[in-house]
Amino acid sequence: MDTRTMMIGEETVRECLTVEDAIGCVERTWTWYGEGKVVMPNKITTDMSALGVPSWFNSMPAYIGPMDAAGIKVVGGYDENKKLGLPYIKATVLLTDPRTGLLRAVIGGDRINDLRTGAQPAIMARLLASRTDTVTIIGTGLQGYMSLLCMSRVLDIGEVRLSDLSEEAMDRFIARFDAPKFRFVKCRTNEEACRGSDIIVTVTNADADLVQREWIKPGALVMTMGSYRETSFDTVLKADRIATDHVGQSLHRGNVKELAEQGRITAESFDIVVPDVLAGKAEGRRSADEYIYAQIIGTGMLDVALAALLLEKLRAAGKAPHFFDMAK
Ligand SMILES: NC(=O)c1ccc[n+]([C@@H]2O[C@H](COP(=O)([O-])OP(=O)(O)OC[C@H]3O[C@@H](n4cnc5c(N)ncnc54)[C@H](O)[C@@H]3O)[C@@H](O)[C@H]2O)c1
Repeated sequence: MDTRTMMIGEETVRECLTVEDAIGCVERTWTWYGEGKVVMPNKITTDMSALGVPSWFNSMPAYIGPMDAAGIKVVGGYDENKKLGLPYIKATVLLTDPRTGLLRAVIGGDRINDLRTGAQPAIMARLLASRTDTVTIIGTGLQGYMSLLCMSRVLDIGEVRLSDLSEEAMDRFIARFDAPKFRFVKCRTNEEACRGSDIIVTVTNADADLVQREWIKPGALVMTMGSYRETSFDTVLKADRIATDHVGQSLHRGNVKELAEQGRITAESFDIVVPDVLAGKAEGRRSADEYIYAQIIGTGMLDVALAALLLEKLRAAGKAPHFFDMAK
């Protein structure tokens, strides 16, 4: 039996996986999860900051039944990476044989993480937004870019409003879009960016009230994606309906965490669980003017599924990656 492990670097991932691959894969995997065809425990965070290391990493395992793929993403946020020319988020995906435990592949996980992260708000917005003319991105870093890139492939967007602490980050963000079909507006305040907007995405590494409830118009969709607090409590508590990609994980991390710790948000507070909507088990938006708040926490099943898709595509293209034999 073949005991070898494939070693796949970021360059190969970039060549092989497209934005469309990611959007299709995330939608299918969420649907399978809603149908009960995925096994996925909650992610575990190892926060090293208490011992003076300004970093954390998550362990995110999953088994995807329809792909017969098992694995784990190890991904973290490393505050000092920017100084070293590395991205803030650094990820690796491991795929194991579901029956023998043999290590099948070690894959550079940055591009996989970025693609699946951006695909999430695209699918959620397609499912839950009542209008898509104006989109606000608060936090114009890498995940903000991937989010808009993916959203722009599936939504009809007229205006994109940007807000970031760094003017340079906003300029870099705009420069990454070649001849976009929408116009960019750099905003001086988050309030200016949010008032009247149809879709608001927060994707920062801040721990602050970046969005206030009174800035949000009826019918809007607010999606928070950062790892810490990003809105006022009222933005969540006074939403007409609360949505998530995953209930358990949303209670442990991200914007809703503090509210969950205070007992003001519980598992029952979530009205819309997106995988259940995709599986046809639950209802999405009910009216054009309800304000929906959504927590996108990000789940390991998406990385494992996208990594398994990468292997399928490499096999189909007859491309042989490097191998390493753990048994030797
Ligand atoms: N939900 C998910 O699936 C998922 C997946 C990956 C990463 N993330 C999270 O997304 C966040 C962003 O990651 P990234 O890779 O884009 O980081 P990044 O460093 O590339 O970008 C973060 C941006 O946020 C801006 N920012 C920080 N504080 C701000 C504030 N108070 N107001 C406005 N802008 C502010 C920074 O200037 C920067 O431009 C992190 O919290 C990360 O953990 C979420």
